[in-house]
Amino acid sequence: MSEGRAVQPASGNAAGKGRLALDYKPRLPADRSMGIAIVGAGDIVVNAHLPAYKLAGFRVIGIYDIDRSKAEAAAKTHSIAVFDELAALLAHPGVRIVDIAVPARYQPAIARQAAERGKHLLCQKPLAESYRQARELAEACAALGVKAAVNQQMRWAPGIQASRCVVERGWLGAPLQASIQVNVLTPWELWPWLSHMPTLEVMYHSIHYLDAIRYVLGTAPEYVYADGAKYPGQTYAGETRTMIHLKFPGEVRGLIHDSHNNRMPQDDWYATFRFEGTEGVVKGTNGALYNYPHGREDTIALYSERLEPGCLYAPTLEGRWFPHAFMGTMGELMRAIEEDREPVNSLADNLLTLQTVFAAYKSMAENRPVYLEEIAAAAT
Ligand SMILES: NC(=O)c1ccc[n+]([C@@H]2O[C@H](COP(=O)([O-])OP(=O)(O)OC[C@H]3O[C@@H](n4cnc5c(N)ncnc54)[C@H](O)[C@@H]3O)[C@@H](O)[C@H]2O)c1
Repeated sequence: MSEGRAVQPASGNAAGKGRLALDYKPRLPADRSMGIAIVGAGDIVVNAHLPAYKLAGFRVIGIYDIDRSKAEAAAKTHSIAVFDELAALLAHPGVRIVDIAVPARYQPAIARQAAERGKHLLCQKPLAESYRQARELAEACAALGVKAAVNQQMRWAPGIQASRCVVERGWLGAPLQASIQVNVLTPWELWPWLSHMPTLEVMYHSIHYLDAIRYVLGTAPEYVYADGAKYPGQTYAGETRTMIHLKFPGEVRGLIHDSHNNRMPQDDWYATFRFEGTEGVVKGTNGALYNYPHGREDTIALYSERLEPGCLYAPTLEGRWFPHAFMGTMGELMRAIEEDREPVNSLADNLLTLQTVFAAYKSMAENRPVYLEEIAAAAT
């Protein structure tokens, strides 16, 4: 919980004496001893999964990667066991959760193998390279009775989780508009397997924003109208600049405007979010994309007629999208196991995020609004 302070008047007559407490930190399970097996020892595991699990006090049993040297490097830094075979790691009696972080094309087969052994799953985003594969995996996990979640950890980025808290408490009145705008320089070459992907920005980056907006608003869009473009001379096959318009039920609208080609000094980079309702606004910055590659804390500001007309609150947020939010995705899966319920980041829930992703690509290809139900229907 964070105590906030009204720091500046939103208009000339604000007294600024209110206080607010936002519930935004990842919730952890009562039992943190559930054994975790990690598959894939790449950048995201070394720099986010493992540091977050250490902070949370989670128990990692071991790691497997087809490239043993990667597993060894990760294991050395984080003092965990290396397994030569996936089957051996899955057979370890202490393993209850398999945490997969490999490129999406390899993920469904690994996830099925683990689910068939009765393991609960935390999968990486994107869940699969096709909607059909993702849906079939969700169905298989449900049939096998395992809990399965997706690592869309931006939901637990402090600014996004705090915004969700604000919307849930009704402090914005009726939600009307959501926007996320990003203009940075992304070194995609750090992920060589991404360079030939015909679908790049939305599939691997804005997927977080699509999921975060859905999460904060608590509803899925009806249709998506998207455009994607490249930057002159770029060597990657996929789009690196995107604009996505989201039409939600009623009067609610969303906009994602993303460019990863900002050649200006970092002072010019920005990564902002803004949620507006009939009675307020919550807005802020996504600190992970400032002071790159180190990042900084998220910022947030809240104006609510319901709380105190005339006051702009600017509570300080602790923690970051990377790595702290990874405690949120795994923590939610563990809590769902403890409470025998579906995690809020379940595979079934993630299918809606994937529908928006694939609707965005279909929209780009056909230059028209695409309804989510078209994506679901095409895969049946
Ligand atoms: N949630 C996030 O914010 C976030 C951020 C970055 C990456 N990711 C996702 O995480 C996954 C990994 O990304 P990364 O940045 O670590 O990539 P990376 O290229 O650094 O690492 C991928 C690792 O997977 C291993 N691997 C590939 N196929 C395998 C298989 N069949 N079995 C075992 N290991 C295998 C590779 O040897 C490599 O070590 C991707 O799906 C990516 O989309 C998520």
